[in-house]
Amino acid sequence: MPGAPEQLLSLQSVGFAHPARRGAPVQALSEVSLHARTGELLAVVGPSGCGKSTLLELICALHTPDQGTITAPPAVLMPQRDLLLAWLSALDNVALPLRIAGLGRAQARARARELFGEVGLDGFQQAHPAELSGGMRQRVAFLRTLLCGKPLLCLDEPFGALDAITRAEMQEWLAATLARERRTVVLVTHDVEEAILLADRVAVLSPRPGRVVASVEVELERPRNRTDAALSALREHALGLLASEGQA
Ligand SMILES: Nc1ncnc2c1ncn2[C@@H]1O[C@H](COP(=O)(O)OP(=O)(O)OP(=O)(O)O)[C@@H](O)[C@H]1O
Ligand SMILES: [Mg+2]
Repeated sequence: MPGAPEQLLSLQSVGFAHPARRGAPVQALSEVSLHARTGELLAVVGPSGCGKSTLLELICALHTPDQGTITAPPAVLMPQRDLLLAWLSALDNVALPLRIAGLGRAQARARARELFGEVGLDGFQQAHPAELSGGMRQRVAFLRTLLCGKPLLCLDEPFGALDAITRAEMQEWLAATLARERRTVVLVTHDVEEAILLADRVAVLSPRPGRVVASVEVELERPRNRTDAALSALREHALGLLASEGQA
């Protein structure tokens, strides 16, 4: 129930238009209501340009809604393009939020180093972003997001730029990492299968201005298998909802 006390994140009838630089404002979202409880993963799927990134920016308080209300804890955004600093090693990129929070260099690096082995990046601490594969860069960016220590993680198409095989590996990796490091997550994706594989709930958005066409509860046991019949049935259901809005 939106607004119930156990909700960590709650959006009620949120509308937002990007102010115009030239011409008319761009209405990005309309009447969006969403919620997530502590520890849940809420996936948001929708066609290109429907306002998904804008939604995460609103949740992270980078914009103020024009209509409706947002109740959200401190949130950190992992943006659509990985913003690793090219001149820092992978380790120092991950340690960055701890340094910003005031931790000394040695302590920050030690905390960051602990996580590297756990996520299959052992041996790459000293590599610079240009020396890493796309999948590795996204793991580094994700670790950095985790270490921000915020209760809510907003992930914007984290695997959007990866090839299909790496993408599938990264989905399993994220599921395993979140099973160990339980967080509340809002995951924006174009990929309905990814959404069903990872989420507790999938919000399907219409074309711009994005509004919630349907909210699909995913009550499948974890770990999940993408070839599972119940998962395939939910995927087809969600794809049908997207298609009925004139986009797939
Ligand atoms: N800063 C901005 N100023 C003006 N318009 C913007 C701004 N950011 C986004 N928009 C517009 O708002 C609409 C929604 O954009 P947004 O990036 O949120 O969509 P999206 O669903 O994330 O798209 P994609 O799937 O391509 O990542 C688009 O029409 C976009 O052009
Ligand atoms: Mg986007």
